[in-house]
Amino acid sequence: MTTAATTRKSAVGTAHTRVEGYDKVTGAARYAGEIPFAGLAHGWLVLSTVARGRIRSVETAEVLAMPGVLTVLHHGNAQRLNTGYIGLMGVPDPTCAVFQQDRVPFMGWPVALVVAETSEQAREAAEALVVRYEEEPHDIAFAADRPDVYLVDQGPAPAETGKGDVAAGLAASAVVVDAEYTTPEEFHHPMEPHAATARWDGDLLDVVDSNQGATWVVSELANLFSLDPASVRVRSEHVGGGFGSKGVRAHQVAAVMAAAALRRPVRVVLTRRQMFSLTGYRSPTIQRLRLGADADGRLRALEHSSVSLTSTVYEFLEPAAAASRALYDADAHHTVNRVVRLDVPTPSWMRAPGEAPGSFALESALDELAEKCGIDPIELRVRNEPERGPVSGLPFSSRNLIACFREGARRFGWADRDPRPGVRREGRWLLGTGTASACFPVIAWPSTAAVTAEADGTFTVRIAASDIGTGARTALTLVAADALEVAPDRVRVRIGDSNFGPATIAGGSMGTRSWSWAITAAAAELRERLASGAGIPPEGITVRSDTTEAVGALSEKERHSFGAQFAEVAVDVATGEVRVRRMLGIFAAGRIVNPLTARNQFTGGMIWGISMALHEEAVRDRASGGHYGADLAGYHVATHADVPHVEADWIDDPDPDDPVGIKGIGEIGIVGAAAAVANAVRHATGVRHRSLPIRPDRVI
Ligand code: MOS
Repeated sequence: MTTAATTRKSAVGTAHTRVEGYDKVTGAARYAGEIPFAGLAHGWLVLSTVARGRIRSVETAEVLAMPGVLTVLHHGNAQRLNTGYIGLMGVPDPTCAVFQQDRVPFMGWPVALVVAETSEQAREAAEALVVRYEEEPHDIAFAADRPDVYLVDQGPAPAETGKGDVAAGLAASAVVVDAEYTTPEEFHHPMEPHAATARWDGDLLDVVDSNQGATWVVSELANLFSLDPASVRVRSEHVGGGFGSKGVRAHQVAAVMAAAALRRPVRVVLTRRQMFSLTGYRSPTIQRLRLGADADGRLRALEHSSVSLTSTVYEFLEPAAAASRALYDADAHHTVNRVVRLDVPTPSWMRAPGEAPGSFALESALDELAEKCGIDPIELRVRNEPERGPVSGLPFSSRNLIACFREGARRFGWADRDPRPGVRREGRWLLGTGTASACFPVIAWPSTAAVTAEADGTFTVRIAASDIGTGARTALTLVAADALEVAPDRVRVRIGDSNFGPATIAGGSMGTRSWSWAITAAAAELRERLASGAGIPPEGITVRSDTTEAVGALSEKERHSFGAQFAEVAVDVATGEVRVRRMLGIFAAGRIVNPLTARNQFTGGMIWGISMALHEEAVRDRASGGHYGADLAGYHVATHADVPHVEADWIDDPDPDDPVGIKGIGEIGIVGAAAAVANAVRHATGVRHRSLPIRPDRVI
């Protein structure tokens, strides 16, 4: 083993195709909506067709007589749930506690579940179900100057931070930027729609699901149904995308209820259209940036205020102003997040919650400041590099923002840029380039893992991780291989099963970091056991780890990933068309475990930034309270033709406090990406766009 260890090449840092890739492309990998169950019944959710009011009646008689229909669950007959608890992610969103009362708080609220022998029968009956409402006037008018906009008092991060006197700082500044930026309602829409199958085996609840964390779903279901968490098993081996949307939603809860009522397995799959009201979205934001600087660009005052919306049933905050808490300092520094409650579905986390819309506003404002000061936008950022966290006052664990800009500028050819707007022309196209900073917090949450040395010389890792398409399972295989000092092909990583013990979610860009920590700890102890020379019995030798203590012992620091985004656009001012020609992102985001899948994560985020800058916008109809075109025909996203050349790379930036050096890469790719595109549009045309998306009609 010693010889092998010294000559072995590190698996971490080596490109590796997905360990489950073959299963995925051959169709052998099964997703939650297609795993066979004997005696399966199918549930179809019925959603409200009014945006506010009360349910007067659910006319079940005719539907119950339809072919194959087994039952109709609604507020009049559904079992009561426990909703008064604080779960892993705080208080439950009542949208998932289905059929508990007659009030309708938004268009698309779940009012019934029709269960039938086949999915087609359930759908037919669900569409025929008559629900009568007592309709009330609704209000979905999102505006920053409404009197009912309020400061949220919740969450681990404060809604407001401040030091110094912003008004005085602005008054003393040679250059001031004061501008409002808006971002629209945006959706995640993973490729695989949400789906869950629930089955009761005596008192044991077995759920096959598509989620971002089996432990999380177990905890919520156990709370809602007043069960011992040990009697709930949730499996989610393959997940076709999440982006923050795959937590506990109405369909899992409805499936569990129906399975209990019928004493047979019940599957509930959401349609694309249903996802528009049931699986969360990014709240629109209205943000105001006030920057004051000396003539040399050094900031004296920075104020970032944001208003987002939430539903009347659950207080969710999109903390866009938090994007200004780690990047730039000023003697007067103020960030504040407010919300307004409207008759709309509850928003939720969506890739880089807060930072994605917040960085659009902040990094656009920095670009405006650079132009007003007559300073190159990269140089402006160099001059405003803080020594310590602007809000926390803590030292940075590592901060390689400027190194990203230097490397990016070199590769992008930034030095050749003529800073004057609207001067580069190529036929009918005006050309421009733009840049922006990216920054995302680095966190770790406790997890447990089990590593087994098998009698045949292979190793099995078991961890309730979720690979939502990121390549996490492959990354964990490489981490485990290094920790065990064996080749990756001797390691099998099993994930997506709550029976493997508690583990954190695939979210907050912390999954791979947190899980790797647990695997590394278990593997280290296992190697010690093996080194003592004990033989391996037929059942193998298993070591379990729990990182609660180690993660809790992390010292207080500002921990972030950083990046520099660059974009080149061509704008046809006659048609208003904006085309991104190329994009480059250079990141300092910890040790990169698998360059192949990491590059996908970065470019995936950057492409989403292009999409956010130019295409994405869900529009609500004030009269009905619902969307115009709640589908992927009406909701535009960037497709291949919109994404010609997107390149991501990174600089060496291992996290000093992580056992593997990982920081996390899931979200930073989208941060600053939309601002880089918008800044490039400004450079191309001389026109500043402060509202996304930059649609053709806004360009003309
Ligand atoms: Mo993410 S928005 O933390 O899944």
